[in-house]
Amino acid sequence: MAKSRLVYVCQACGASHPKWLGRCPACQAWDSLAEEALAPASPAAPGPAAQPLALKQAWGRPEKRTMSGLGELDRVLGGGLVPGMVTLVGGEPGIGKSTLMLQLAASLGAGGLPVLYVAAEESARQVGLRAQRLGLTDSPVALLNETGLEQITQAWRSGGYGAVVVDSVQAIRSADLPSLAGSLGQVRQCAGELAALAKQTGAALFLVGHVTKEGALAGPRVLEHMVDTVLYFESELASSLRLLRAVKNRFGATDEVGVFEMGEEGLRTVANPSALFLAQRPAEAPGSAVCAALSGTRPLLVEVQALVSPSGLAMPRRQALGLDAGRLHMLCAVLGIHAGLDLSGHDVFVNLAGGIKLGEPAADLAVAVAVASSFHARAVPAQVVCFGEVGLAGELRAVSRAPARLAEAARQGFTRALTAPTRLDKPVEMEVLAATRLAQALEVLW
Ligand code: TYD
Ligand code: MG
Repeated sequence: MAKSRLVYVCQACGASHPKWLGRCPACQAWDSLAEEALAPASPAAPGPAAQPLALKQAWGRPEKRTMSGLGELDRVLGGGLVPGMVTLVGGEPGIGKSTLMLQLAASLGAGGLPVLYVAAEESARQVGLRAQRLGLTDSPVALLNETGLEQITQAWRSGGYGAVVVDSVQAIRSADLPSLAGSLGQVRQCAGELAALAKQTGAALFLVGHVTKEGALAGPRVLEHMVDTVLYFESELASSLRLLRAVKNRFGATDEVGVFEMGEEGLRTVANPSALFLAQRPAEAPGSAVCAALSGTRPLLVEVQALVSPSGLAMPRRQALGLDAGRLHMLCAVLGIHAGLDLSGHDVFVNLAGGIKLGEPAADLAVAVAVASSFHARAVPAQVVCFGEVGLAGELRAVSRAPARLAEAARQGFTRALTAPTRLDKPVEMEVLAATRLAQALEVLW
């Protein structure tokens, strides 16, 4: 094979340069050049012409899904693994990515799928010790302790695997590029070749990638467009709770969250996340409201906490953790104009307990209720859940899948739901307090 030539491509603007430079002359971005191997230009022999399909031929090929057996992971993937699917699993060092991947590999192996686990960061012994700790030493998983991309792809080709885990993409390196493992060029090159092999062989590929707090350049972010699915593994500080979040998914919903708990024997899937998120809710304390939210396709009860305190600032603070800050500003204004809550001299802090993030407007009512509760120093009755969108005119709007939200609230022992008028086709085991306006909702509540 002829030696490939190298070019340096700016990751910001796409300009290519023959030499490495600290700054791209085309777009002035700093430290944005990554080397890429340019295949020697050879006149390509014209192959057979590509054949387009009729649209109706493209339909009717349901993808065959393989369940991994780790329920929360299957949920986040959109209902199991799809052949050839490339998934990036990102997260800070120490969060539990290798643990999750080893448990996944073992579970797939136990289900009869041939699995290759490439340990590029750790020695075989370290992986062995982890397997022992997890009680998985007898699992039919092929372990390859290797960092060379070419050796990995060779082993993959000769093995006929149904799933391959590469831990991590920052630790492997292609001999085509002179740079070190973990550099932008290496990460892109290795991920690109492995992804192509996954599509070719139909094996599901999992790439582990570290994200540093500083968001290092060669981190998984540069790979997001090359893969089908991007999962981020996160946790609250000093908590054993781990949230697996899909931020991109070509085969499922993106707001799906999987909930795990890290224990002495690895990760356990959490069967009843609502109960866990509500476990530490203070009883009868002002500033706390429970929202019947939807996280992806799953109804989930989340505690919304608010603290309203007198401010000495000309521009009082509005701080939101787990929800959009702009939304909080809007809700404070609506509470002021339409519910008589003068917050202009108060700082407002809102937090979703347990590190959950909600993007849906259905959380509006619970946020408004929590803020009003803290402002008036009056607790929300313990058996009440809230959900509903708040409009700029102070009106309450119905939100999607109310029956599923109510059912989950009933399952967790709630007896009253405060929401917008909602049409329910079937009776629910719940007293529904419907209000058309925010001010009316607050009146009904207290
Ligand atoms: P690890 O999977 O190595 O994290 P990552 O690959 O994301 O860097 O796990 C890291 C932490 O998890 C480590 O501090 C030990 C802890 N841990 C447990 O608490 N229980 C377990 O069963 C295992 C295997 C690890
Ligand atoms: Mg690891």
